[in-house]
Amino acid sequence: KSVVQRLWQGSASLDMLSPRLQKAVKDYVSTNKHGVSYRGRRHARKSKRRLLCEMKRKAKVMTLDGEEIPFSSLGWQKIVPPLPLERLYGSGFGSCAVVTSAGAILHSGLGKEIDSHDAVLRFNSAPTKGYERDVGSKTTIRIINSQILANPSHQFNSSSLYKNVTLVAWDPAPYAVNLHKWYKNPDYNLFTPYMKYRKQFPAQPFYILHPKFIWQLWDIIQANTLDNIQPNPPSSGFIGILLMMWLCDEVDVYEYIPSLRQTDLCHYHERYYDAACTLGAYHPLLYEKILVQRLKTGSESDLAKGKVTLPGFRTIHC
Ligand code: C5P
Repeated sequence: KSVVQRLWQGSASLDMLSPRLQKAVKDYVSTNKHGVSYRGRRHARKSKRRLLCEMKRKAKVMTLDGEEIPFSSLGWQKIVPPLPLERLYGSGFGSCAVVTSAGAILHSGLGKEIDSHDAVLRFNSAPTKGYERDVGSKTTIRIINSQILANPSHQFNSSSLYKNVTLVAWDPAPYAVNLHKWYKNPDYNLFTPYMKYRKQFPAQPFYILHPKFIWQLWDIIQANTLDNIQPNPPSSGFIGILLMMWLCDEVDVYEYIPSLRQTDLCHYHERYYDAACTLGAYHPLLYEKILVQRLKTGSESDLAKGKVTLPGFRTIHC
C-alpha cells in the first residue's frame, strides 16, 4: 500500500518512508538540536474526543505580549499589537480554510471553495496570484517562519504578500523556553526585522508566537505517538491548524493529508521535488499528519480531493 492510502486509513508509520528519510529522522533524533527532553507519558489510542480535550486544555495559543523579560526591559509592551491575537477577531470565525503549500494542490480547482470560507490561512511565501483556480485569492492570516523575516530574498518589508493580512511569525526557542537564550540566539533573527516592521506599519496586526505554544504542540504530538518523534518544532502547517482551531468553529484543511494528486513536488509555486516536504525530515510532519487524520471528520471523497475537516475548540465541551 502507498503512504497516502496508509495515511488515509490511519496505519501510516515511519518504516514506510524511503531509507533516506528514515535516516534523516534518526539523525535528527540523535542530534536533538533544541535540547528536547520529554518526560511525559505516551498513549497512541486515545479517543478522538479525549484527544481534542487534551489539545484544548494544553495547547492554548500564546503570543509574545512584551510582559516577560527580556522583552519587557526592551519596551516590547509598546511594540506588540494592543489586542492579543485571541481577541483580534472578537467572537471568531464560523468556517475557516487552512491552505498548505503542497504541490498536490495544483490542478485541484479548489480555489472557489477555499475562498468561500470566512477566513483563510496561508503559509510563508505561498502566493495566490496566478494560482487562484487552485488555491483561491483570499488571505486573512499568514503564518511565517523566521527565515521569511531574516532572509533578504523574501523582501519581507516590501512584498505585497505580507500586506493587508494578519501576520503570525514563529521561531524555535530551546525546548526549555529560556527567552534570554532565544532572544540572543534565535534560529534566524526575527526580532530586529519584527521591530522595524512594527514601527513602519503599526496598524497591521503582527504577532510572534510564544515558543511555549510551539513546544506544547510538540508535546501533544509526542504524547500521542509511541515512536520517538523528531525533537524539532512542528511544521508551520500544524501550528496554523491549531491556531485556526482556536479562532474558528470549523476548520477545513487543504492538502495536508495528501490527496489522490499526491506528488513529490514540494510547493505548488516552485519547481522543487522532495518527498520530505510532504512526509517530513526536520519536522515531525508524518506524526502530525497521523494525529490530524485521527481528529478529522468528513468523508473519503473529501480526502480524495485533499480536504479534512476539524472542529473548532469552541464547539468541544470537555
Ligand atoms: O514549506 P512550508 O512550511 O512553507 O509549507 C507550509 C506547510 O504546508 C508546511 O509546514 C506543511 O505543514 C505543509 N506542507 C505539506 N506538504 C508539502 C508542503 C507543505 O504538508 N508538500
